[in-house]
Amino acid sequence: AQTHNILILPGDGIGPEVMTEAIKVLKAFESPQHTFQLRQELIGGCSIDATGKSVTEEVKQAALDSDAVLFAAVGGPKWDNARRGLDGPEGGLLQLRKAMDIYANLRPCSADSPSSSIAKEFSPFRHEVIEGVDFVVVRENCGGAYFGKKIEDETYAMDEWGYSEAEIQRVTRLSAEIAQRHNPPWPVISLDKANVLASSRLWRRVVEKTMTTEYPDVKIVHQLADSASLIMATNPRSLNGVILADNTFGDMLSDQAGSIVGTLGVLPSASLNGLPGDKTLETRPYGLYEPTHGSAPTIAGQNIANPVAMILCVALMFRYSLNMEDQARRLEDAVRKVLDSGLRTPDLGGKAGTKEVGDAIVAAL
Ligand code: NAD
Ligand code: IPM
Ligand code: MN
Repeated sequence: AQTHNILILPGDGIGPEVMTEAIKVLKAFESPQHTFQLRQELIGGCSIDATGKSVTEEVKQAALDSDAVLFAAVGGPKWDNARRGLDGPEGGLLQLRKAMDIYANLRPCSADSPSSSIAKEFSPFRHEVIEGVDFVVVRENCGGAYFGKKIEDETYAMDEWGYSEAEIQRVTRLSAEIAQRHNPPWPVISLDKANVLASSRLWRRVVEKTMTTEYPDVKIVHQLADSASLIMATNPRSLNGVILADNTFGDMLSDQAGSIVGTLGVLPSASLNGLPGDKTLETRPYGLYEPTHGSAPTIAGQNIANPVAMILCVALMFRYSLNMEDQARRLEDAVRKVLDSGLRTPDLGGKAGTKEVGDAIVAAL
């Protein structure tokens, strides 16, 4: 029997509501072979209120000691003006990403994913536009404009947007590994603004060199990031593959992917420092699983938030951190079944509550 130590970080806004459903689902997978030891801690605004810090050293250490972290969402109007940068609620998440060195954030979006059934009728796009869409955004998660030097005065502000060769290399390698393992083989589509930004010119050079020397069999395409946004809205299928992007471009494009399925409420993500069985893994594997959406303060506390993104994070955790691929698929099938049945929260045009959807997914397992 295996005991998996999971750190639970519900955070703010709808975070605790969607996390409750994810835990419900996780517990349904307890068996003589697999048990889950859960430790719950504060992060974000609630942590600021309780400890004065958006994340404490103790919680960071707990993340490093765990087998995987489930994170829901942080932030809200209450803290918007009080704190800045790494001290604000969002900074708690950023500090954790840095402490765990989880440099690759995988954000899958697929018309064959558990959200496909809803995408067809609920997407604002026509069928023929989104049919067969299947990509994963691999967002660089520990560098770029998010973590550079900052100046924040009354009349001038600056975010240093820098990348080193090594930072670009490692996220390129991980992207290439995903592309190579995919069946059929995927291209890597790398986004940048090499026509304008110096950091993008290094990005393009290092991606190109890493791909051609280490992964000559994987197709590499360089795409300007602004036109990638247009393509995602006009011909998203042509982006099928691994979309490799720096921290900022990846953040923006992965939210835009929500428009394909019609809501952010169904898109999970995995932040990793390597893939299972990855030859590029330098330390022990770390994984933090977080929905692409935020704390959605305007719908918090009403039992109407969609728990599917958070629940699908459990499936990604099974897949990437716990070596439980069968369970990951079973969970994704159950989600698909429930969405197909029409039981959906209001962001998908339904009338179901957060808890009802969680219960239905457990029942469908
Ligand atoms: P958001 O993702 O919270 O919300 C965007 C839109 O999607 C809103 O209309 C919201 O109601 C809807 N939405 C999001 N998740 C949903 C769900 N599970 N079910 C149904 N509808 C859902 O982004 P925002 O409004 O720009 O930001 C709100 C707060 O969240 C801010 O403080 C922001 O900093 C924070 N944020 C946190 C994270 C995170 O913790 N990872 C991510 C993004 C934003
Ligand atoms: C996300 C969020 C975060 C980010 C914020 C909350 C720090 O928008 O996970 O996409 O910008 O990375
Ligand atoms: Mn974001």
